[in-house]
Amino acid sequence: MLRFALWGLCLLDVATASVTVYGQIPIGISSALSSTATQAAAYDTTVLNPPPVPNPAPPTSFVLTLQSLASAVGSGVLSIPISGTFFGFSVEMSVITQLFGTNSSYIQVPFLNLMANIQERAGAVYMRIGGNTQEFAFYVDSLPEDRAISKQKADSNNPTQTPAVIYTMDLFYLLSNISSLVNVKWYIGVPFNDTSDFRFQIVEYSEAILGDNLIGIQVGNEPDLYPGRHRNKTYSPQNYVNEFGELITAMTADPNAPVRNNLIGPSVSGTWTPEEVFDAGFITTYGVNIGAISVEHYPTENCFPVYGISVYHDPQLEFPNYLNHTSPVALCEPYLNASNIARAAGKPFLMFETNSASCGGFPGISDSFGAALWALDYGLQMAYSNFSGAMLHVGGQDTYYNPFTAPPTNQSRYYEWTIGAVYYSALISAEVFGKTNTSQIMDLHGNGNNEFTPQYAIYENGAIARVALFNYVTDPTGASTYTATISLAGGTVPSSVQVKYFLSPSVSTKDNITWAGQTLGTAREVDGRFKGALNITTITCDTGANTCLIPVPAPAFALVFLTAEEDIATVTFSTSVHTNTVNTATVAASVLATSNGMAGDVWKLASTSNEKNAALSRDGHAGWLVGTVAAALALILC
Ligand SMILES: *[C@@H]1O[C@H](CO)[C@@H](O)[C@H](O)[C@H]1NC(C)=O
Ligand SMILES: *[C@@H]1O[C@H](CO)[C@@H](O)[C@H](O)[C@H]1NC(C)=O
Ligand SMILES: *[C@@H]1O[C@H](CO)[C@@H](O)[C@H](O)[C@H]1NC(C)=O
Ligand SMILES: *[C@@H]1O[C@H](CO)[C@@H](O)[C@H](O)[C@H]1NC(C)=O
Ligand SMILES: *[C@@H]1O[C@H](CO)[C@@H](O)[C@H](O)[C@H]1NC(C)=O
Ligand SMILES: *[C@@H]1O[C@H](CO)[C@@H](O)[C@H](O)[C@H]1NC(C)=O
Ligand SMILES: *[C@@H]1O[C@H](CO)[C@@H](O)[C@H](O)[C@H]1NC(C)=O
Ligand SMILES: *[C@@H]1O[C@H](CO)[C@@H](O)[C@H](O)[C@H]1NC(C)=O
Ligand SMILES: *[C@@H]1O[C@H](CO)[C@@H](O)[C@H](O)[C@H]1NC(C)=O
Ligand SMILES: *[C@@H]1O[C@H](CO)[C@@H](O)[C@H](O)[C@H]1NC(C)=O
Ligand SMILES: *[C@@H]1O[C@H](CO)[C@@H](O)[C@H](O)[C@H]1NC(C)=O
Repeated sequence: MLRFALWGLCLLDVATASVTVYGQIPIGISSALSSTATQAAAYDTTVLNPPPVPNPAPPTSFVLTLQSLASAVGSGVLSIPISGTFFGFSVEMSVITQLFGTNSSYIQVPFLNLMANIQERAGAVYMRIGGNTQEFAFYVDSLPEDRAISKQKADSNNPTQTPAVIYTMDLFYLLSNISSLVNVKWYIGVPFNDTSDFRFQIVEYSEAILGDNLIGIQVGNEPDLYPGRHRNKTYSPQNYVNEFGELITAMTADPNAPVRNNLIGPSVSGTWTPEEVFDAGFITTYGVNIGAISVEHYPTENCFPVYGISVYHDPQLEFPNYLNHTSPVALCEPYLNASNIARAAGKPFLMFETNSASCGGFPGISDSFGAALWALDYGLQMAYSNFSGAMLHVGGQDTYYNPFTAPPTNQSRYYEWTIGAVYYSALISAEVFGKTNTSQIMDLHGNGNNEFTPQYAIYENGAIARVALFNYVTDPTGASTYTATISLAGGTVPSSVQVKYFLSPSVSTKDNITWAGQTLGTAREVDGRFKGALNITTITCDTGANTCLIPVPAPAFALVFLTAEEDIATVTFSTSVHTNTVNTATVAASVLATSNGMAGDVWKLASTSNEKNAALSRDGHAGWLVGTVAAALALILC
């Protein structure tokens, strides 16, 4: 769906649009399976050139003197307390079937594993389902194949023909079943296309079936883009606020929607400022009903290649814009006033939908290691700016920026999942903030505030706990590796610290990405579990000199633990399910690419096969979790 916005607030004052693309590039399961499949954006293989070492190069040695206690840090510097759940995911309703599963008894195991990785680090995962498709969604009693969701083209005003989503009661059981396996909390969106009929079923069933796992209801998705589309041309912030009130009135009359304090808005995307909506009485009139205040934003757009609108942006020329600290700072700056107003009103301030670029992102950028560094820096900067959470958007096959991509349903026998580099950003941010809900972050501006080497300090329970160090430079010679010297004021460094490195040979790579030595795997080979041995580096500090010297390669991100990280336990839980992840974890795409014409149920995958394993099961759907056979499922991680 095309969403035009004038980013009055944005760096790039251009007409832009955030679009989730639904149509898949037709992919035939033919003799050339792997080559045709690579046409889809999610599997794009463009590798850009990393920018040269900046001139002047960033200094390779600098000192960070940190206060031991948060109370000694100057006032107004530290963020509000931030939870490990800070980064969540925003899933367009129309891709739920591919990502979550067909119905409540048919759930994607790779998805569960990917969520479990984050839950282990953060305690929970926050997931928003909605987007453009929520506006026209409607309920039906049943769908073929007991599907939870289906699509129907409905919005004739929409040039990209966003399908209306049709859902059944089973959608809520699907979400609820997912939450019973991993601690996923849900934001949903109420349809807002018709203020005379809000179609509250999605609210009623969510409240009844999800209970505490429902954490908020979005009212209106990017209403600043409604004028001339979903509403008349004079539609204003005041009209939105009035309609928000109409929704509350209608909801108050609905005994089946008893929760009244969890609404989320205004989700403006940059055409209106949040302040314009506040000034129309949003918080003052409806504060008791508002659970969180939201905005949505993409830093730039890449709509030209798909829709021929706006202007062409050359990914190679855009790449450096994602490889420095100036970008995250500039993206957050326009929201500081609104985040302060939200805080004063006691409301969490959320970035409800974002990613590297709208219209699906950029080839070569959005799925690169550089984008992962950028997204992590952007997340930490949003936290420092007192956002309480941010949702990375997940689209379909034709999207470059997906944190994770499921194979198209009709290829799920052949291929496993694909991880996007920004998934690691979400996972790492969970470790940056941890599980205590007490982490406060500050941007350190060290190394002369050099934009290529940003650093943050994280205080937990009032004391320094972790330091986050970025190096955006790519330099295989090793000459751009820097050493940060950490020193404590009001205390002494510990005798040693532990460091986890996020590494890749270049900012342009998409594979060869490791976090603490482990990787999720390359395109179409991801089952959601980390592979390889965990590698945590112990660095001995000089307690006499009160210094710890932390090397940071170019490029890299390093997370320095001044206090021991809580155990990231292997999650093992029993379910009444039968799964096949153990075997599919070993299936290489190269093996599958030669198996065309063979039905899933007759595959014999050489010596990696385990005859008892369901990878060879009759349904042949690698990686589905089918709720029929009672068995213990161990999602073994790390
Ligand atoms: C797989 O699905 C795509 C998109 O729906 C379709 O174009 C293609 O024909 C399907 N291929 C097979 C082999 O069913
Ligand atoms: C974030 O909130 C804290 C109060 O907890 C405040 O001191 C700080 O200045 C705020 N940060 C920004 C960037 O507004
Ligand atoms: C709103 O969406 C519903 C479901 O798709 C549709 O039936 C209805 O006509 C729409 N109403 C308006 C005013 O667009
Ligand atoms: C759920 O989806 C699967 C796969 O599409 C299908 O086989 C099954 O019949 C559906 N319904 C139930 C209740 O499992
Ligand atoms: C435009 O729509 C708003 C409500 O959405 C209404 O209050 C206003 O009167 C409409 N304006 C015109 C010119 O129709
Ligand atoms: C912040 O927004 C409020 C509400 O719109 C406005 O009154 C105030 O002037 C703004 N402050 C700044 C510093 O922009
Ligand atoms: C850093 O990024 C910003 C955009 O976010 C860009 O304007 C600037 O040119 C970049 N700096 C360099 C040295 O590339
Ligand atoms: C952190 O906050 C979440 C959500 O409010 C809560 O469920 C969890 O128990 C909290 N964790 C701790 C350690 O207090
Ligand atoms: C990535 O790793 C593979 C082996 O796993 C290696 O062949 C390839 O050269 C590496 N790529 C880079 C850019 O280092
Ligand atoms: C562990 O990581 C460190 C830092 O990147 C590296 O020097 C070392 O070789 C790694 N060890 C193993 C066993 O991979
Ligand atoms: C999912 O929900 C259904 C209710 O629709 C229930 O019968 C089933 O046992 C659940 N499956 C799992 C795996 O929890």
